[in-house]
Amino acid sequence: MTLPQRIARLDVYPTADDVEFFRQNGYLRVERITTDEEVEWLGRRYDELFAERRGAFPGGYFDLSRPYDAEGADLLPQILMPEIKVPEVRETSFHRNGRRYAAALLGVPKEDLGSWGHMILKPARVGHETPWHQDEAYWEPTRSYTAVGLWMPLDPATVESGCLHFVPGSHRGEVLHHRHISDDPAVHGLWTDEADGTGSVAVPVQPGGATFHHPRMLHYAGPNRTDRDRRAWATEFQLPPVTLDPPAHRPWVEEGRQAWDGRRVIAEAVAKRGRA
Ligand code: NI
Repeated sequence: MTLPQRIARLDVYPTADDVEFFRQNGYLRVERITTDEEVEWLGRRYDELFAERRGAFPGGYFDLSRPYDAEGADLLPQILMPEIKVPEVRETSFHRNGRRYAAALLGVPKEDLGSWGHMILKPARVGHETPWHQDEAYWEPTRSYTAVGLWMPLDPATVESGCLHFVPGSHRGEVLHHRHISDDPAVHGLWTDEADGTGSVAVPVQPGGATFHHPRMLHYAGPNRTDRDRRAWATEFQLPPVTLDPPAHRPWVEEGRQAWDGRRVIAEAVAKRGRA
């Protein structure tokens, strides 16, 4: 399957002011990163994968806010590495522009950047808040990362539907102490008890627009109080991680690993495809 020919290509380019804003603040909002047509196409693929839920992604589909084996309606479901099932996403303007921006924001050649995606769904009315956290807190403590996250909503992301909130400048700090939601290592979602959002800004985005954020950026998204799902397709662009010796102190990663078979399952899926 390839991306339908009829979807027109859009190319957008970061300015020097964009790069400077990101360096100062640790995030960037981009009005347009792809077309409405492509958002619609991505939305259909998104809905198909969420309809399959665990069937499509054993270990890679879970509710961030509840234990892995919880029954009932999901409140904050996520799918990791959707590109394993939808490799055409790599041909989209979303991905191409995202990589171009990521390279400029990080100051590295775009050819050097690897990427992996995730899809986060905040269901209408019941979508759970995403508590304050830094993305790097989820990652391997034995690695050092040069990375930037791209986040594009497929539905209007407003304060009411759960847009992102950032604390400008917080990317310059260390990874703070994090804990699992409900203090249960079988809940994937993390939050930090060392930040309360003081000084934060809400960053609403329309579908087809996007935000970028640094892996140490403190961020949050509220619950979805609207009657429409708030779907988002995110992609992490990163240089190959470098071994960190000694490792960072992140005991919550090891605690969570024992409850989740996702790393193994995803590694196998990637090995089968021959690439990440
Ligand atoms: Ni995050």
